[in-house]
Amino acid sequence: MRILCLGDVVGAPGRDVLMRTLRPYREQNGIDFVVCNVENATEGSGINSSAFRSLRAAGIDVATTGDHVYRRADVLKLFERHPDRILRPLNYPAKAAGRGATVVTANNGVPVAVVNVQGRVFMDPSDDPFHALRTILPTLEAKVIIIDFHAEATSEKRAMGWFLDGQATAMVGTHTHVPTADEEVFPEGLAYVTDLGMCGPYRSVIGRRSDAVLHSFTTKMYARFGVADEDVRACGVLIEVDPETGKAQSIERVVLR
Ligand SMILES: [Fe+2]
Ligand SMILES: [Fe+2]
Repeated sequence: MRILCLGDVVGAPGRDVLMRTLRPYREQNGIDFVVCNVENATEGSGINSSAFRSLRAAGIDVATTGDHVYRRADVLKLFERHPDRILRPLNYPAKAAGRGATVVTANNGVPVAVVNVQGRVFMDPSDDPFHALRTILPTLEAKVIIIDFHAEATSEKRAMGWFLDGQATAMVGTHTHVPTADEEVFPEGLAYVTDLGMCGPYRSVIGRRSDAVLHSFTTKMYARFGVADEDVRACGVLIEVDPETGKAQSIERVVLR
């Protein structure tokens, strides 16, 4: 079976490129399941109901998030109404709204587990993501398991890949908004990539207007970081999976324009 994982959707440009390209891509390539990180989908930070609706209509099965998850109060409604379709990082406090793992049936009838975890290096404090995964993985009722590891440091992400090899189908990194070229299938069948990149405007500083970000870096003064709008691409990976074993057979980078 074929699973498409897409990186952080940034604002209207990111949503628009997916609304235009994802349905035809799904059909032409026989994609059974799509996971996408949506933490920046509304004006570059957080997600509201209308953005979630458009992305679901565009062909996303499960939405993951990260450090910007609670930026808009509307997300609380989404967690109530669609608890199996939108996730927050698993290693957040137990009382945090939403859940960190779900199992959803793919187009071909195979149950797919999706788990969202967040890193701790150069990020706000959270619980140990390794421990959180060690606890939840044996409880998931699916052979096919996709992990979105939302983290900053390459080292923490690569270490997580080795931790998960043999225990999951894929670990895809998110959060840095820049695609990495290290996609590979690890020895025990884990499809791995350090970062998917974003679905958004690449002529920018990770999705924001470069003039505003540069002003802030060079003056230390506040600037509103508007979402950029040029060179819009949707980046991710296409993973071929053996549904009987849950092991990945191949992983390749994908760019939709
Ligand atoms: Fe992001
Ligand atoms: Fe993030």
